[in-house]
Amino acid sequence: MTSSNLTEAVDSICKKFSITDEQLKSISSEYIRLTKLGLNHNGEAMAMIPSYVTATPSGRETGTFLAVDLGGTNFRVCSIHLNGDNTYDLLQTKTVIPRNLMVGTSKELFSFLAQKVKDFIATHLSEKFDEDATDHQLKLGFTFSFPVSQTAINRGTLLRWTKGFDVKDAVGQDVCLLLQDELDALNLNVHVAALVNDTVGTLMSRSYTSPGHHTTIMGIIIGTGTNCAYVENLDAITKLGEEKISNLRKNSPMMIINTEWGSFDNQCVSIGSTDYDEQVDKKTPNKGMQLFEKRISGMFLGEILRVILADLCSQKLLFKSSSSELETEWKLDTSALSRIEADFSKNLIATRLLIEKELALESTLEERKAIKTIVEAIGKRSAYLAGAVVAGILEHTKAFEKHGIIDVGMDGSVIEFYPGYESLIREALSAIIGQTKESRVQIGIAKDGSGVGAALCAVVA
Ligand code: BGC
Repeated sequence: MTSSNLTEAVDSICKKFSITDEQLKSISSEYIRLTKLGLNHNGEAMAMIPSYVTATPSGRETGTFLAVDLGGTNFRVCSIHLNGDNTYDLLQTKTVIPRNLMVGTSKELFSFLAQKVKDFIATHLSEKFDEDATDHQLKLGFTFSFPVSQTAINRGTLLRWTKGFDVKDAVGQDVCLLLQDELDALNLNVHVAALVNDTVGTLMSRSYTSPGHHTTIMGIIIGTGTNCAYVENLDAITKLGEEKISNLRKNSPMMIINTEWGSFDNQCVSIGSTDYDEQVDKKTPNKGMQLFEKRISGMFLGEILRVILADLCSQKLLFKSSSSELETEWKLDTSALSRIEADFSKNLIATRLLIEKELALESTLEERKAIKTIVEAIGKRSAYLAGAVVAGILEHTKAFEKHGIIDVGMDGSVIEFYPGYESLIREALSAIIGQTKESRVQIGIAKDGSGVGAALCAVVA
């Protein structure tokens, strides 16, 4: 192997991952087209799901609520006290979801969740909670972060699983009822009052805690998976039908839409595709779906990097020999990319140690430089794709005509921990809408979106 061969191979990989300003603009336009399609028709891949949440909070809401959150690696149970002054107190427990429950039966999964609620109440709320009371005492907000066709604030059938879950018999069932039945079986006086996507929760919690008086119009998650919810005019959601729209309009002219943007452009018309993306997609239970998500979110970036490194190794361009770790699917997670991006040491020592620890491989400085360049290309593509669709929503909603400063709440491990991610999103935004408008977009981390947001939806309910 010669160093120029490796440099050439890395250049060609980076080219495949790069997105020009022209491409950014066409991604943004395609996003607007599919937004309209999803608002007009049921059954589109980018589902544009009405949340039935028709108000954002003022910050003055009060009360104590339970919230549970199923959506990625962990299951969380929380109790939230809203203090009514933009602040809240939160108590929570987290449990890693056993792998067998992610692919087992709905009975196994939901009875496990109900048992965790029971344990939480016994440990933290037993004084406040009278198990013998006959009416449902505690309102629970259920953050369920998968595509659900929602028909009311606490009704919704599961359309499909994402992020490695595959509990087949749950598809088509009402997930609120699945949880309520198991809570009832444990004699818990808890009422599932609201079904909430984590992005809707993020938007709600950012509105509740938002500093100043800027209107929050989007809630975005870029973590294990990715998605966005935004504030839409009721009249634009034509698939609801005239009658429903005019009934809903009596209370409010708006509704939060859960876009399910993870399935934006599954045809890859605008977002492009590399052979590495295709290799990763093939290994997932939802092949051909969520292709936007598979280029952006935390569950996939590590695996994209691993397949590239394994490919370069098989071509004898990288590493002296392979290792079983390098050949192990899903061996690298996104935190590996974050650590390599953040390594500015002269000899890339942190990168060397990481490759030794995670892949059991020795590397030369030149190899580490090549790996860092590839990591930067993967990270940049992820943030650019996110920026392009944010620009699409800003244009579709005419946000710059309606608001001075536009507030966007974000959460998730990628946005929170990936070095420079927000700056890259801003770079893409600026290339599409211009720097003046980009500077009117305020991005803030909305912590505890799925807990506090679910509680806020339970208030609305
Ligand atoms: C799900 C969304 C969710 C997102 C972030 C996606 O895989 O389809 O419902 O909001 O992950 O958790």
